[in-house]
Amino acid sequence: MLGTMRRLWQTVRPIRFRLYLGLLSAMTASIVALMIPQVLEFIVNRLGTDATAATIWTGGAIVLALGIVEASLIWLRRTFAVAPSTTVEKQIRVNFYEKVQNLPVSFHDGWGSGQLLSRMMSDINQIRRWIAFGMIMAVTNVVTISVGMVLLIRSSAALALIFFLAAVPVTIIAYRFNRSFSVLSRLSQDQNGDLATTIEQSVQGIRVLKAFGRGPSALEGFTEQAEELRRTEVRKATAIARFDMFMFMLPELALGVALLVGLHLTASGQITTGQLASYFATATLVVGPVRMLGMLLGQAVNATTALDRHYEVMDTANEITSLEDAAPIDRAAAKGAVRFEGVHFRYQDAPDHVLDVIDGVNLEIRPGETMALVGVTGSGKSTLLQLVPRLYDVTSGAITIDGVDIREMSLLDLRSLTAVAFEDATLFSDSVRDNVLLGADPSLSDAEAEELLHLALRTADASFALELPEGVDTRIGEEGMSLSGGQRQRLALARSIAAKPAVLLLDDPLSALDTKTEETVTGRLREVLEGTTTLIVAHRTSTVALADRVALLEGGRVVAVGTHAELMESSARYRWVIAHQAEERRRDQDIETLTGELELRAIQEEGR
Ligand SMILES: Nc1ncnc2c1ncn2[C@@H]1O[C@H](COP(=O)(O)OP(=O)(O)O)[C@@H](O)[C@H]1O
Ligand SMILES: [Mg+2]
Repeated sequence: MLGTMRRLWQTVRPIRFRLYLGLLSAMTASIVALMIPQVLEFIVNRLGTDATAATIWTGGAIVLALGIVEASLIWLRRTFAVAPSTTVEKQIRVNFYEKVQNLPVSFHDGWGSGQLLSRMMSDINQIRRWIAFGMIMAVTNVVTISVGMVLLIRSSAALALIFFLAAVPVTIIAYRFNRSFSVLSRLSQDQNGDLATTIEQSVQGIRVLKAFGRGPSALEGFTEQAEELRRTEVRKATAIARFDMFMFMLPELALGVALLVGLHLTASGQITTGQLASYFATATLVVGPVRMLGMLLGQAVNATTALDRHYEVMDTANEITSLEDAAPIDRAAAKGAVRFEGVHFRYQDAPDHVLDVIDGVNLEIRPGETMALVGVTGSGKSTLLQLVPRLYDVTSGAITIDGVDIREMSLLDLRSLTAVAFEDATLFSDSVRDNVLLGADPSLSDAEAEELLHLALRTADASFALELPEGVDTRIGEEGMSLSGGQRQRLALARSIAAKPAVLLLDDPLSALDTKTEETVTGRLREVLEGTTTLIVAHRTSTVALADRVALLEGGRVVAVGTHAELMESSARYRWVIAHQAEERRRDQDIETLTGELELRAIQEEGR
C-alpha cells in the first residue's frame, strides 16, 4: 500500500504544491474550529461576575470571527485541491487511453472490454476522489483528533477517556464498513455492466432473437440479471442502515454517559462549568472527524486497489515497439517486395501441445505482384496477414519489406507502407467519407481526398454509398445507418485501397459479394492496384485465377506456390482445397440466404 501511494505521489507531482496549500487550509480550518470551545469556556467561567456583558460581546465577536475564518479556509481547501485534481484525473485517463491504444493486439486478446472500461472509468474516478479529498482529509482528521483529544484531556481526563472508548470502535466499524461496502459497490457496478452488455447484445442481435423466436428466453435471462442487481442494491441499503445506526448510537451514548459523570464532577467542584461546556463543544467537533477517519482509511485501501489495477495495465510491457534509431523509409521509393523467412508464430495463450499456428513459412512476393493465399479454415491465413503490419510479432524468423526487417522500421512507417482489409469489416460510427479515408495520406488537399475517395469507392464497387441519404456524409456504423454485410465489406475494402499502401493485405474481402460482382471488383482492383504488392486471401476460383501466383497454406506452412493453372495440374491437395471451398461457399450462401429470409419475415411481421 505504501509503495502504491508513493507512486501516486510521483504522479501528482505537478499539483503537489497546491495539495500542500489545500492541506494547510484544511488543518488551519480545523484548529480554528477547535478554538471556539476554548472561548466558550472563558465566557462560561465569567458568567455571573461583574464583567459579564462585556465578556459575552467580546467572546461572541471572537466566535463569529473564528467561524468566518473557518468557512473561508474550507473554501480555500476546495479551491486548492479540487480543480487541479480533475486535471490530474484527466491526464491519468488520457495516459491510460494512450497506453491501451499502444498495447499490442495480443494484450487485447486477453482482456475483456468491460475490464478495461471499468479501469478507465470507475477506478480512475476513485483515484481522483482520493487525491482531491481523501488524502488531505485523512491527514487533517488525524491532526484534528489529536489536538481535540489534548483539549478534552485538559477539560477532564476522565471525560476524555469516555470519549476515547467510544471513538475507537467507531473508527474500526467505519473502516470495516467502507471496505465491505466497496466490495458491494464493485459487485453492483459489475452487475450493472453485465446488464448493459446484455441489453447491447440483444439490441444488436435483435434480428437473430426475433427470427429464432428467442425473445421470451432472452427476457427470462434478463429478468434474472435484473433481480440479482436488485438484491445487491438491497444489501447495500441494509449495510448503510446498520452502519448509520452504530455510527450515531455509539457517540451519543458516550456523550450521555459523559454528561452524567460531568455533572457529578462539576457538582463536586472537580471541574468548572466552563470546562464542562468546552468539553461538550469540543467533543461535538471531534465526533465528525472520528466518524470520517475510519471511512477515509477504507477509502485509502480502496484507492490503493484502484491504483494497483490501474498500474497493472500501465506497467504491461509493450513488446511491439519502434526501434529507437529506425532508419526512415521513403514511402515513394518503396517497391513492396515482401519476404517471409522461416516465420514461426504462436498465440500467447496457445497450449504447449499444439503446433505453431505459423510453422515455418518461407514465401516471397515480388514487387507489384498479386498473390492469392489459399487454405482451409484454420490453416493460419488471417494470422499470416496480421504479422505483416506487426499486429503480432513473429516468434522466430523474419519478415522483410524491400529487404528491410519490419522490426527495424518505425511502426508508423511500416503501417503507412501496409494496409489491411480484415475479414470482419469493422466500421466506425462516422461518415462514409471518414471511414474510407481513415488511412489516407493526411496531407492531401480536399480535392485530392475527394478524388481518392471516389476512386476507392468505385474500385471496391461501393458506389452505393453515393446514393445514401446524405451521400458520403451519411453516418454509418452502430449509431448510424445500418449496412448489409456485403456493403460493409466493400467499404472496408475501399478504406484499404484509399490508404495507397505499397503492400496491400486483403483477408477474404469479397466473401459477401456474389460471383459476378466479385469478378468485376477483382478486375478493377488489378487495374487500380497496378504496382501495389497484394496478398489476398481468396476462396473463389475466379479470384484465385486472376492472381499472378497462388500460395497454398496448410497447417501453418506454405506447401505449394505457383500459378493457378500450374497448381491445378501439379497438386492434388490444391485441387481438393479449391473444390472443397467452392462447395463450402455454396453451403454458406444457402445459409445466408435462409437467415436473410427469416430476418426479413420477422421484420415484416413486426411491421404489421
Ligand atoms: N487471437 C487468437 N488467439 C488465439 N488463437 C487464435 C487467434 N486467432 C486465431 N487463432 C487460432 O489460430 C488458428 C488459425 O486461425 P486463422 O489464422 O484465423 O486461420 P484462417 O484465417 O486460415 O481461417 C486457428 O486454430 C485459430 O483458432
Ligand atoms: Mg481467416
